[in-house]
Amino acid sequence: MKRYFLALLFASLSMITVNSLAVDMDETMAARITKQLNATGRNQYDNIKDAGRKPIEVARFFGVENGMTVLDMATGGGYNAEILSAAVGPKGIVYAQNSHLVLRLLNGAHHKAILARLDEDRLANVRYIVVNAKDMPFQHSIDLVFWAFNLHDVYNSGGEKAALNDLRAMRLALKPGGVMAISDHIGVAGNDNEALHRIETATIVDLLNKAGFVIEAKSNLLANPDDDHSQSIYTDGLRYHTDRILVRARRPM
Ligand SMILES: C[S@@+](CC[C@H](N)C(=O)[O-])C[C@H]1O[C@@H](n2cnc3c(N)ncnc32)[C@H](O)[C@@H]1O
Repeated sequence: MKRYFLALLFASLSMITVNSLAVDMDETMAARITKQLNATGRNQYDNIKDAGRKPIEVARFFGVENGMTVLDMATGGGYNAEILSAAVGPKGIVYAQNSHLVLRLLNGAHHKAILARLDEDRLANVRYIVVNAKDMPFQHSIDLVFWAFNLHDVYNSGGEKAALNDLRAMRLALKPGGVMAISDHIGVAGNDNEALHRIETATIVDLLNKAGFVIEAKSNLLANPDDDHSQSIYTDGLRYHTDRILVRARRPM
């Protein structure tokens, strides 16, 4: 009986230790992101985006961890690459990808923005690559693919085929069991989502299933009930605060 109590006590103590370690690690990630939000050299628009993007909560929802190798697809000007750089810490790596289109769109503004962000090696664990999804050099080497606010562009301009081609390239990049993290602006059926820069949540889920992912969870962390989904995401007052969905899926083992 005495031995049973001792074993029970030991088990409880080790659980407390393991739990507090997990909390510590999470707090460290949160502290690193918080510090980065206040870092010098961020893009001039980053601060405007912070409140509406809830970077710490989003990183937690998707399961970003210290030391991970992460691929930030369609990084644009690199807002998320910078957050992910802090989240994975100095032992992690962030590959920040843009397709060749970035060199032409908006006169290359996003390309120039990420180059400025990375100037003087200010994010030492970020590797910027301009490569189309199908030509990416990764095979089963990425822990987590982060694809924010770009699936609607690919789907609305190139249809299901283009979206599936990109998702399959990301699936190939991921390690078995790796995480596919998607965020996008919610659209509803019947609206001109191409003009509004939105996509239906059901379409995201359908595409992920067709590309061979297993859906794990959806989150309304970035929800906005005042957004009726009928206006462009660039509408004054709505921009940066649209109703957005997060979908976490996994590459099967
Ligand atoms: C709104 S930005 C998102 C950037 C980044 N992921 C973020 O969350 O800050 C969308 C990106 O998609 C790219 N893009 C726009 N139209 C596209 C298209 N038709 N196909 C692929 N990419 C496109 C642009 O270069 C831009 O950098």
